[in-house]
Amino acid sequence: MKLWGGRFTKETNELVNEFNASISFDQRFWEQDIEGSLAHVTMLAKQEIISEEDKEAIIGGLQSIREDIKSGTLTITDEYEDIHTFIEATLIERIGEAGKRLHTGRSRNDQVALDMRLYTREEVLATDKLLKDLLLVILRIMEENVETYMPGFTHLQKAQPVTVAHHFGAYFEMFRRDRSRLADLYERMNYCPLGAGALAGTTYPLDREYTASLLHFTGATRNSMDSVSDRDYVIEFLSALSTIMMHLSRFSEEIIIWNTNEYRFVELDDSFSTGSSIMPQKKNPDIAELVRGKTGRVYGALMSMLTTMKGIPLAYNKDMQEDKEMAFDAYDTTKGCIQLFTGMIDTMKFRPTVMEQSAKNGFTNATDAADYLVKKGVAFRDAHGIIGQLVLHCIEKGIALDDLALEEYKKVCPVFEEDIYEAISLKTCVEKRLTKGAPGSKVMHEAIAEAKEYLSK
Ligand code: ARG
Repeated sequence: MKLWGGRFTKETNELVNEFNASISFDQRFWEQDIEGSLAHVTMLAKQEIISEEDKEAIIGGLQSIREDIKSGTLTITDEYEDIHTFIEATLIERIGEAGKRLHTGRSRNDQVALDMRLYTREEVLATDKLLKDLLLVILRIMEENVETYMPGFTHLQKAQPVTVAHHFGAYFEMFRRDRSRLADLYERMNYCPLGAGALAGTTYPLDREYTASLLHFTGATRNSMDSVSDRDYVIEFLSALSTIMMHLSRFSEEIIIWNTNEYRFVELDDSFSTGSSIMPQKKNPDIAELVRGKTGRVYGALMSMLTTMKGIPLAYNKDMQEDKEMAFDAYDTTKGCIQLFTGMIDTMKFRPTVMEQSAKNGFTNATDAADYLVKKGVAFRDAHGIIGQLVLHCIEKGIALDDLALEEYKKVCPVFEEDIYEAISLKTCVEKRLTKGAPGSKVMHEAIAEAKEYLSK
């Protein structure tokens, strides 16, 4: 069944039907399509464009279709071009004449623009909810690990000591920004395109603001040509999803490294690891690797959408049907990744002794040793040179700065005293870092309190 057979004299080529159809993927927003039609028909009756009687019949019909699809008694079939056609045809089949009035003052162009927006709007909220769950787990880990020392890295070389709370706090900020990006784009996209018609509005006295309010939009969109051809919000959402995936991927990469036999900073739970079919000893971080890997397809969806849109003249063109498949895949993929990643870190165990030992053996306290000399009056550049020499000496002996005898220190610089050991202990190195955003426990507790407050809203 077609909605547009009137002016044609020939049957459509079978391959064209197949190539043109979108029902295999746009059936995903059947519920949004019905929701939009319910609002449209309510508005049509209020404006006396259709009778109350017809409105009641259409609403009853749409509700029965909704119930039947939900319960599985009505199956969406591929014989129709798209979900809009399927629902309208089924309505006419069920209620007859009145059903033919549903599409008054509406085009599939503003209809699909509405459905995609309604669907995407829900996905934005669902993604935000998952990010919040992830942040709650990160916060729990931070609270439990304010004094779990570990090396902080630059160039993947041990740099200065930090704590697990501090390291996870960095990711807390990334995902917090991701949530704020979602909130921004939600606000921008939350306008209703219905009533834009095919492109130039309609001669019926539609009350577009009323339809918009029925569907919980902030208002109606301003320009009808833009309304049917705007997919900016899909691009913005895909861009936000790409950034989320980029963050998850970096985090995954770290967990993969920390979980190696060489590092052993963490141990992934059996329930979130997989084995090898040939090597019995293996326990692989497949979840983290898959999250890292799936980042590629989400970036791909963003690139695809940007490219699809770049050459489209106003207003609607069929190219825009390509806004769906890859976008849906990216929506699903990102939600799945956030969920799996959350479960993985929630069950992951830390090895504090290994991490602390690694920080010590990596000379992460060398900057603090230089600062110690500065406090005793040595110029920083000289102090840097002196500690460099001592580090080299320790590397040759295979020991940490903490293990070097005081006379060895004094041989290189007489300013050293017994208090050097206290000054370069990991605890001191971390605890003395008290500038805003640093790992010292005093400021870390403040950061945690602020994060808690943020999540309580
Ligand atoms: N399946 C189409 C899409 O996804 C619906 C809009 C069709 N409009 C049209 N004039 N052919 O974009």
